Amino acid sequence: MRITQANFVTSSSHHNQCPEDKRPEFAFIGRSNVGKSSLINMLTNHKKLAKVSGKPGKTQLINHFLINDNWFLVDLPGYGWAKVAKTEKEKWGTMIHDYLTLRENLLCTFILIDSRLAPQPIDVEFINWLGQQALPFALIFTKVDKQSKNKTQSSIAKYKKHLLNYWAELPPVLVTSSQSGEGKEDVLHFIDETIAQ
Ligand code: GTP
Ligand code: MG
Repeated sequence: MRITQANFVTSSSHHNQCPEDKRPEFAFIGRSNVGKSSLINMLTNHKKLAKVSGKPGKTQLINHFLINDNWFLVDLPGYGWAKVAKTEKEKWGTMIHDYLTLRENLLCTFILIDSRLAPQPIDVEFINWLGQQALPFALIFTKVDKQSKNKTQSSIAKYKKHLLNYWAELPPVLVTSSQSGEGKEDVLHFIDETIAQ
């Protein structure tokens, strides 16, 4: 797939406010600063479609973008910021939980993981939660330009090994760099295939 059209549709603070339109939808989530917004810009060939920032917690709402007039791409706020009040965290939890469990046209959630880190409890917890809800997801290992291919492969292997403590089956794994564009075709191909199924 080539993305020729990417338009911001709306930001929602509640799943009820999301577009009524039931076109296929793909969401991007992960720890704050993992590179969700950067990846969305890379995939859509836009410099500034999703807001990127050095400051964690930039994205706070459910952001819908319509792609090629055919499917929705959704930028979700990151989890795991340190400096956020408990009430804010609870608000985030409810918003994301409702969106992920109630959004009928959500075909797949991409969980972004920093390829440089060992398995982080907060990511594993989130992966396990999605698995328990039987919601479809795939893992995207980000920022691979920042280290050697060997290091990335070793990170992924550690992750898989860790997840096999909980699950008999592993989710699909993709590898990306928003800086070099690596993995773009793979992610878009994955989306194409999922829509076609
Ligand atoms: P929140 O919206 O705060 O949850 O963050 P986010 O996950 O959307 O991250 P964002 O895309 O804003 O990127 C965070 C920082 O990482 C920025 O400084 C980006 O420039 C940088 N970054 C993101 N992706 C990559 C990548 O693939 N390679 C490199 N080298 N830097 C990246
Ligand atoms: Mg963001």
